Amino acid sequence: MGDRVLELANIGKTFAGVTVLRNVNLQLQKGEVHALIGENGAGKSTLIKILSGYFPPDRGGEIRMNGKPVVFYNPKDAMKASIHTIYQELTLCPLMSVAENIVLDKQHFFPGLLQKKRGFRELAMKALERLGQADIDPGSLVKDLSIAQQQVVEIAKAITSNAQIVLMDEPTSSISQSDADKLFNIIRGLKADQVTVVYISHRLHEIDGIADRITVLRDGDLVGTVNKAEVTERDLIRMMVGRELTTMYPKVNVPIAEPALRVENLSSEGAFRNISFDVRKGEIFGIGGLVGAKRTELLEALFGLRPITAGRILVNGKEFTPKSPRQAIRKRIAFVTEDRKKSGLILCLPVYENISLINAQEKVPFGWLDWRRLFRIAEKQRKALNIRLARMEQTVRTLSGGNQQKVALAKWLEFQPEVILFDEPTRGIDIGAKTEIYSIMGALAARGTAIVMVSSELPELLSVADRIMVLREGEMKGIVRREEATQEMIMSLAALKHTAAAGGLQERRQQ
Ligand SMILES: Nc1ncnc2c1ncn2[C@@H]1O[C@H](COP(=O)(O)OP(=O)(O)OP(=O)(O)O)[C@@H](O)[C@H]1O
Ligand SMILES: [Mg+2]
Repeated sequence: MGDRVLELANIGKTFAGVTVLRNVNLQLQKGEVHALIGENGAGKSTLIKILSGYFPPDRGGEIRMNGKPVVFYNPKDAMKASIHTIYQELTLCPLMSVAENIVLDKQHFFPGLLQKKRGFRELAMKALERLGQADIDPGSLVKDLSIAQQQVVEIAKAITSNAQIVLMDEPTSSISQSDADKLFNIIRGLKADQVTVVYISHRLHEIDGIADRITVLRDGDLVGTVNKAEVTERDLIRMMVGRELTTMYPKVNVPIAEPALRVENLSSEGAFRNISFDVRKGEIFGIGGLVGAKRTELLEALFGLRPITAGRILVNGKEFTPKSPRQAIRKRIAFVTEDRKKSGLILCLPVYENISLINAQEKVPFGWLDWRRLFRIAEKQRKALNIRLARMEQTVRTLSGGNQQKVALAKWLEFQPEVILFDEPTRGIDIGAKTEIYSIMGALAARGTAIVMVSSELPELLSVADRIMVLREGEMKGIVRREEATQEMIMSLAALKHTAAAGGLQERRQQ
């Protein structure tokens, strides 16, 4: 450490008159892991996109590499300058093999190599070995790999291009804990090879584990760059949020009434078997388990997105077999999906239309859409959820990741569901907004809504849910009350092999 590899001087970014980054001055040192943190919409991804040549900075800003000013006109320029980016949405070619993906774009490094299939297979193999991932076959198609393995391929791509700087935007947001641990080892390896890693995450414990220095952004301003050793988690939160956060999990105790949702011996072939539980009005019912436990599949079946092959569902005491989401919605069941890009939102539509979509179908008495009213509804929800945007007419695509998640939630709130199914509700959401979402759940519960929440974050399950059901490979392994539940208990129900310490957990990957 010590040498500056890259300097950002006075970097700003304005989109259509709205400034989202202001006067950012940042130095990256050789071989450091530099974390970039901040609330949703603070400008982290935008900063990374400037560094990777995806966007130009505003006039007046300068990027210097090894002391010399550089200008990137496109991502290829940045790559040639040995900056490699791993975006949250992975950019590999799914129908090409691992090896082909790794050597792609490297014709200029290895002239003639593309003709020699064996040559680049070897190159790929070497890179994977160096990452300790020799079990990935260079010949397999990228589409058949798990997300974590695709990330490894992205990193292999970076190291075969001799990247000096690797930028990672929320790399752990959709992989399991054990895959995240592997990734941290890879990052430590990169650091040992003097590669600089810029790491964005909302998970402060991850940053505590790997970062050397931390830069905090708030609303487009750089609040400060600190040495990890010199700050506490509390300091970081204060820097990000601009105030003290007193309670992380504002749990409201709601008197719990009669069951709103009852599930009896429910099965869906190929997914889960024989699951029974009930969720009462005002209750938050958590579902835990590892990746592959079939939790999302269970929610899909409840929402009419997956056929039910045995058992039954009762809503407010009446049997109900949802055959489509439309039927589920008619029963006032809402589903806030995990993958907001695939099924939660229409990215090319403006924010206000996304928020009022569900309501639009409901509130059209004479086939007349009252846009002003829909706009007002959207504005109310935007305020309630503190969604950060420039204009309501902005397309959802241009919102930051966390703010997209809030829009996905907002569209259901106005609808006043009786049962709301949440799949990983706070994934990619910053710490302040998380607390807001828990408060909203509490308010929904107080209104008598029955809430089902799938979550992989144990502290969240243990603090927010009233009861927790654990699934493992499509089977129910137990239901525990919050007062009795511990992390170890949930983990041991969720995993096949386990030791008492959560750290020694052996997770079986499902391919
Ligand atoms: N192409 C664009 N057009 C207009 N505004 C944009 C565009 N891209 C980003 N923004 C805005 O810039 C701001 C910063 O977004 P950015 O994605 O950098 O935030 P972030 O810190 O990565 O947040 P998150 O933690 O939610 O991912 C947001 O308000 C966003 O709406
Ligand atoms: Mg982002």
